[in-house]
Amino acid sequence: MPPQQMEREAPQSVMKTTKRLIGFFKESRALILGMLGLLTASTLLNLLIPDLISRAIDTLDLSAGRLSVDWDHLNTILLILLGVFVFSSLFSYFQGRNSAKLTRTTTLTIRKKVSEKLIRLPVSFFDSHRSGDMTARLTNDIDNIANLISQALGTALSAVIVIVGCIVIMLIKNPLLTLVCLSTVILNVLCTVILSKRMFGFFRKQQKSVGEMNSHVEQSVAAKKTIDSYRITDECIAENDRLSDELTDASVKAQVLGGAMPPLMSIIGNINFLLIVAVGALLYIDGGFGVTIGTIQAFTLYSRQFTKPINEVSGIISQLMTALASAERVFEIIDAEAEEDSGKKSLSDRHACSIRFEHVTFSYVRGIKVLDDFSLDIEPGQRVALVGKTGAGKTTLVSLLMRFYEPDDGCILIDGVDIREIPKAQLRRTVTTVLQNTALIDGTIRDNIAYGRLSADEKELYAAAEAANADAFIAKLENGMNTEILREDTRLSQGERQLLCLSRASLTQPRALILDEAMSSVDSATEKKIQDAMLGMMHDKTCIIIAHRLSTIRNADKIAVISDGKVVETGRHKELLERRGVYCGLYQNQYTESD
Ligand SMILES: Nc1ncnc2c1ncn2[C@@H]1O[C@H](COP(=O)(O)OP(=O)(O)O)[C@@H](O)[C@H]1O
Ligand SMILES: [Mg+2]
Repeated sequence: MPPQQMEREAPQSVMKTTKRLIGFFKESRALILGMLGLLTASTLLNLLIPDLISRAIDTLDLSAGRLSVDWDHLNTILLILLGVFVFSSLFSYFQGRNSAKLTRTTTLTIRKKVSEKLIRLPVSFFDSHRSGDMTARLTNDIDNIANLISQALGTALSAVIVIVGCIVIMLIKNPLLTLVCLSTVILNVLCTVILSKRMFGFFRKQQKSVGEMNSHVEQSVAAKKTIDSYRITDECIAENDRLSDELTDASVKAQVLGGAMPPLMSIIGNINFLLIVAVGALLYIDGGFGVTIGTIQAFTLYSRQFTKPINEVSGIISQLMTALASAERVFEIIDAEAEEDSGKKSLSDRHACSIRFEHVTFSYVRGIKVLDDFSLDIEPGQRVALVGKTGAGKTTLVSLLMRFYEPDDGCILIDGVDIREIPKAQLRRTVTTVLQNTALIDGTIRDNIAYGRLSADEKELYAAAEAANADAFIAKLENGMNTEILREDTRLSQGERQLLCLSRASLTQPRALILDEAMSSVDSATEKKIQDAMLGMMHDKTCIIIAHRLSTIRNADKIAVISDGKVVETGRHKELLERRGVYCGLYQNQYTESD
């Protein structure tokens, strides 16, 4: 796997990403401030409770040998306690609502930003990023970020308030008991750190397994037919079992460790309780330290409040790390360079256009040149066939012409204008490609054709279908133009799909039409249909035909033979055959049986 495809579980730069993430939420500032405010209020109120209870206990007086109660004082305290309970619950409730809203808005903001970006990314971006991975970024990663903001941030803040608050209150009440209380905290922290470190490892493994599992399932579904027909079902199941085992192993271990945490913490908590009560009782009996029964009670409660956030710290840190790693993945998309489009020159609307490749050099992977000083001249209205072995770079030429990729060297001209100076939208209107792998979208037949030019009206739509010879088969469908089809719909034959794509291309009304092996996977009857349609569509256009079958290229005005990244022969069919060169060899090897 190339490095960029590997899932990162830990953020690469904590500070940088955090800073950026904070900047990202400027728009939700009001909600975040509201959340923090409400949380602070309810946490502070909760901090008062043990103190109030201890005061209430101290209104009971046993010193005279019998119980006397300071009722006035007790009633006041109970009333205040009631108020504290009510307000703290209210604050918590509003805080919950607020944070739900925050989650919703942040998720929406980021998701919008990412999806908008995804659409604008250049084709080359997707060469190195799997689609499943992209889906995960739009779902899991964004959820992780939203959770961080709405949960972890709140938990962290209240943890800080509780820890600081408890220590201050305890110190004021009794420094000695505070020390006793803190001694067990060290034990607590130690256990938490050791356990959660190990748990973290298994947890990461678990997340990685989930990712692999998802990608495997996605692949199995997408390639179902291949898997079934090559009878690799068993291998597929075995792989699935292996991934499941890995996942189970990691998650069981993570859960066992996670399960050990609460009982351990409760043992430490009880030790803490015993120590406070024992030392507190000694101090009470001694009488010289201002310790009352209420003080002891308050300390047992405070130490509990105090240890809770400490136990949560590891969870928060892991959540923070997960979210930061997610944020980095999301930022990677947001930062990826969108297709820049600085072209300003407008082409004239003359019918056919000329296309010129001038010394084009290009490689996908550094060092492996696919095109090497490639030059080719195509005149307006000319029908040029490109032939060459599989992998010779024919499709690459088309991708360069459409500016899906940029040449490393040399340039491509349309009507004498460098295509880098033409706005991409116009370029892609001027030149239209029909590919071997037909790209249909989920929707009706009409939607699929209309994709060619969304502004086209009904009449133009039908005319386009007719021009591409697709009208007959469309009429036979249950709902005609309104028949719903799926992207990978197998109810349509390859040829019918191809005819739809031709209709779409025809609707675009391009000035140059490129057919990239558009007919290599259709039967000969459909081929005839497509060919007729093409001939009709081609008559006023410049055409580049990349074809396997000789019948399609035999009538071309010019045939260019590509080998080793350049044009090695050009000429008409007959001339080239007579020359007995590369074309002749290709023709004898490749084209004889299909012609
Ligand atoms: N996206 C890509 N990334 C890396 N290499 C690629 C990519 N697309 C094509 N190639 C390589 O470039 C070469 C030319 O491919 P292509 O233009 O598709 O050939 P043709 O259409 O003539 O069969 C091949 O060796 C192919 O493996
Ligand atoms: Mg190709």
